[in-house]
Amino acid sequence: MRAIKKITCIGAGYVGGPTMSVVAQRCPEIEVTIVDMNTARIAAWNDSDLANLPVYEPGLDEVVAAARGRNLFFSTDVDKAIEEADMIFISVNTPTKTYGKGKGQAADLKFIELCARQIAAVATSDKIVVEKSTLPVRTAEALKSILDNTGSGVNFHILSNPEFLAEGTAVQDLQNPDRVLIGGEDAEAIQALVDIYAHWVPREKIITTNLWSSELSKLVANAFLAQRVSSINAISELCEVTGADVNEVSRAIGMDSRIGPKFLKASVGFGGSCFQKDILNLVYIARTYNLHAVADYWEQVILLNDHQKVRFAENIIKTLYNTVNGKKIAFLGWAFKKDTNDTRESAAIYVADHLLDEEAEVIVYDPKVSAEQVYKDLDYLGTRSPEANRRLVTVVEDPYEAVNDAHAIAVLTEWDEFKNYDWSKIKAGMKKPSFVFDGRKLLDRKQLEELGFVYYAIGE
Ligand code: UDX
Ligand code: ADP
Repeated sequence: MRAIKKITCIGAGYVGGPTMSVVAQRCPEIEVTIVDMNTARIAAWNDSDLANLPVYEPGLDEVVAAARGRNLFFSTDVDKAIEEADMIFISVNTPTKTYGKGKGQAADLKFIELCARQIAAVATSDKIVVEKSTLPVRTAEALKSILDNTGSGVNFHILSNPEFLAEGTAVQDLQNPDRVLIGGEDAEAIQALVDIYAHWVPREKIITTNLWSSELSKLVANAFLAQRVSSINAISELCEVTGADVNEVSRAIGMDSRIGPKFLKASVGFGGSCFQKDILNLVYIARTYNLHAVADYWEQVILLNDHQKVRFAENIIKTLYNTVNGKKIAFLGWAFKKDTNDTRESAAIYVADHLLDEEAEVIVYDPKVSAEQVYKDLDYLGTRSPEANRRLVTVVEDPYEAVNDAHAIAVLTEWDEFKNYDWSKIKAGMKKPSFVFDGRKLLDRKQLEELGFVYYAIGE
């Protein structure tokens, strides 16, 4: 097999952008081109002001600055990039289906299939095609079937190389991964991808498996992580009625080396583009094979997560004397976790939706999320008209403006800066009694209570 000189990545999103930037930084002799059909997104990746990159990740600007224009290129010319590449990563979005069979559960593979067809139509030389997007098990089979039936005499080898990076720590996770997983059938193709990662990842951390194990491992890793969050969130509700403190419980159980301390932070509910989608995929696959007990077991992780979001919103309503109609509720945070501008499946969206149903006035402040994105998220739910969302929701750029004259503050994202606000100034500007509902157990109860806030935190 030829040495890999040119790599193309289709999809310049949260996965493709950071991942391929790090590959380019670490492999200066390989030319990496990231393509996307979204012209605005590519323009933003090419923006001379690195503050305008379309994905916010700590440290990403430095990686892009080191490689862009040297061996890292962003382009909208998908055909050219496919034609020239030795290896093609597919990093396009695979949202949950919103129509037809598997609606609300199965992954929509429309974008993946379009990519495969485009590669099939354009390629004139042999290629290694790497699945990077999270996909249901056996997607590689579909890819292979499309690529092997072009009749063009071009050979395609398909690899699965799931991405385990977490947003907010993407660059760190890519630079120093716990493991790299490569699934495939062709030894030479597998070796070609191993050689790329071996530029910076110790060989013993690069695992190779068959295609299906690799695809399934990605879903299972996310399902296990989400399950831990739902498990501790279930216990948070129990803590609230029994007088236990969920942080103390997490600490006590996390010191058992068999359980471990990570992913035991109770919250208003997990969000992000992966957890819910991947579990729904797992549930869908299990049901397809008539494994209903397996499907029900994993589905419960999602049901508990939905319950946690609803219960947080209901607690706000109940505490504010059973009505939030016309009351001003300030949201600190809209992103699904700190250090990202990504809002996909963020708990904040669902909590807001619930409060808006009760005609609350919601004022949002998030250090990285734009007003446009907040409205887009709410409009996407389709619960009320876009006009109603704009009438009830205001997005501001100054946190003190958000909380001014508010009946209550709800902390939805664990941004560090919230801890350092002038809480005495905030208290002075708020309606009395001044309520804080901390969905992240982020703030200091003692400090807030001394200032006269009525403070509620998940799991206390
Ligand atoms: C996840 C996986 O971690 C990553 O390996 C995979 O590639 C993509 O999906 P991500 O969604 O970016 O990454 O973020 P993650 O840190 O896993 O957090 C997911 C959600 O769970 C967030 O909303 C977070 O706030 C929440 N969470 C996480 C908790 O509520 N408590 C915890 O203890 C950990
Ligand atoms: P992820 O979190 O998986 O990276 P994103 O939605 O952030 O998902 O990014 C996926 C990107 O893939 C989007 O920018 C989208 O425009 C792009 N994309 C989807 N299908 C194609 C295609 N056929 N050709 C080029 N780009 C595509």
